[in-house]
Amino acid sequence: MPFAQEQSKSSTVASEQLSKTETIKLRNKHIGQACQLFYRSDPLKIVRGQGQYMFDEEGTRYLDCINNVAHVGHCHPEVVRAGALQMATISTNNRFLHDELVQCAQTLTSKMPEPLSVCFFVNSGSEANDLALRLARNFTKRQDVITLDHAYHGHLQAVMEVSPYKFNQPGGEKKPDYVHVAPCPDTYGGQFTDKMYPNADLGALYAQPIEEICQRQLAKGQGVAAFIAESLQSCGGQILPPPGYFRAVYDAVRSSGGLCIADEVQVGFGRVGTHYWAFETQGVVPDIVCVAKPMGNGHPVGAVVTTPEIAQAFHATGVAYFNTYGGNPVSCAIANAVMRVIDQEGLQQNALQLGDYLLRECSHLKQEFECIGDVRGVGLFVGIELVKDREGRIPDTKSARWVVNRMKQLHQVLVSSDGPNDNVIKLKPPMCFSRENADEFLLAFRECLATLTQDKMATEAATAAATTTHGVIATAAETLANKTKLFERQDRLIKSV
Ligand SMILES: Cc1ncc(COP(=O)(O)O)c(C=O)c1O
Repeated sequence: MPFAQEQSKSSTVASEQLSKTETIKLRNKHIGQACQLFYRSDPLKIVRGQGQYMFDEEGTRYLDCINNVAHVGHCHPEVVRAGALQMATISTNNRFLHDELVQCAQTLTSKMPEPLSVCFFVNSGSEANDLALRLARNFTKRQDVITLDHAYHGHLQAVMEVSPYKFNQPGGEKKPDYVHVAPCPDTYGGQFTDKMYPNADLGALYAQPIEEICQRQLAKGQGVAAFIAESLQSCGGQILPPPGYFRAVYDAVRSSGGLCIADEVQVGFGRVGTHYWAFETQGVVPDIVCVAKPMGNGHPVGAVVTTPEIAQAFHATGVAYFNTYGGNPVSCAIANAVMRVIDQEGLQQNALQLGDYLLRECSHLKQEFECIGDVRGVGLFVGIELVKDREGRIPDTKSARWVVNRMKQLHQVLVSSDGPNDNVIKLKPPMCFSRENADEFLLAFRECLATLTQDKMATEAATAAATTTHGVIATAAETLANKTKLFERQDRLIKSV
């Protein structure tokens, strides 16, 4: 079956249906304004994807450094084929026997350490985390959950409650009393940094507040149901917890009777390079693991993997678990193809090699450009933190946003920014990212940093001149701030189309 050809033919048709202006108009009219749009000032209309590239309606090619969902590459032919063939054969629910379902469970659990051997299939990361909380609450007969500051675990009610990334926003819903927020283990910009505590065991320092929550809960006779955390926090700004952190936290949580949930929705399936799962980098075994995004390479599928004991306690409630689409043969065929491709194409190994290269080269850029405060990562999960002042580690949000926009507009390279101050440039590209792609990113990023540095120097010189002459000089100062204003103006224009 000529899949690649079919794909490009159908995408051409799709791209010709509406003009971009018309698409924006219809989106503004019919799609809730709360739905987030990348590059609001000049949104992208993506009509086709292939490997690590996305193409807009004019055929412009963008290097995709942010799509961790298209894990094995956009529209990977083997994944597309598996999904299409299964779709053309049968798609039904998991109350019927099907080989793709059991094979998917077998492969997925074969990648996990013992005793994680039982799966529940879902359709998204939110559903996976929601179900994980239900399993933990049922098993422990408790309600309290410990989460990390800046965490995001999904958009459903129960997972929004454990997502400070959302509920701490000005219009966010109030955190329930049964949710306890511990500091994000960010050793660069968090509560305990390597600068403040150069010789300390930061893993132990960050675990301590969690131990205290557990003690308090035990003293109240309540304990905790669960601790939930991403194995590497992505929304928090590409955070790598310090060594020993999860071990100490898991010990504390378990000794207070709670379960440990690892959210691998973003970071699983070999992205970290050294291991298949990011929790393995800390030498721990969770009680429940949640997976989604990369599992379907763009198709909605996820899973909760747990122990027979926890699964049995769920069964013992007598309330059957049913999910119309979770575990349907099409989703499972796709997930099976994704896991096959990761192995066949050595993508975990690629993540390791490319990640090392990117980290090394970004560290060189850090030596050259003062605006880079920190470079961190593992495999193809990389964060570059931009700062106004390296010594004070003052976040530079404006520059990060400017870089993200310039990378797209001038270089056609897609990156994003995140973290509590939105000043961390995030890289989490499809795992087929190549050395050439890394060099393309590095060249473009270097140009942005050089321009940023020149602009800053010009602004400083102009300010100094204005101070000495007591005059008002606006020309040189019309750099970063004015460019940011330009993007904001374009934003308003787009909304009024
Ligand atoms: C760490 C993490 N967990 C859970 C979710 C929710 O996944 P989904 O959007 O598939 O519901 C996300 C989504 O961004 C996520 O980043």
